[in-house]
Amino acid sequence: MTVLIWSALFRINPILMLGLILSASAFADSGISIDRQQELRNLLIQDCGSCHGLKMKGGLGPALLPSALAKKPAEMISNIILDGRPGTAMPAWRPLISPEEAQWLTALLLRGSAQ
Ligand code: HEC
Repeated sequence: MTVLIWSALFRINPILMLGLILSASAFADSGISIDRQQELRNLLIQDCGSCHGLKMKGGLGPALLPSALAKKPAEMISNIILDGRPGTAMPAWRPLISPEEAQWLTALLLRGSAQ
């Protein structure tokens, strides 16, 4: 109902208005723009996937499936993404990814949305 009132107010198609509200709330949830979320998804598949497998089932690096990560605290996972694992092939991504973005990627991995 609110959508209809708003769309009448701004003379915008209600469907378009709903789309605007939904994309705005997706942005507000994580503080990461939709464009950047897409970049991060590409990075996950192309860069992380080159070691962890395109479907995160493992390769040179271990599997990053929800089942494999379930017992690890989210904060630990984000820290590994940011700082890597010294002495292993896991690089630090801090130069390319902010702490908020590492948390967003961690949430994505934990809910299995990376496959
Ligand atoms: C050059 C290869 C390589 C790339 C690229 C890479 N990783 Fe890794 N990653 C590894 C290896 C090897 C390990 C295991 C390190 C160890 O032995 O503790 C690892 C470990 C991890 C872990 C800890 C897993 C666990 O079960 O403890 C996470 C989380 C992780 N990587 C996420 C990522 C993400 C996200 C990216 C992309 C932003 C990425 N990795 C890119 C090689 C890589």
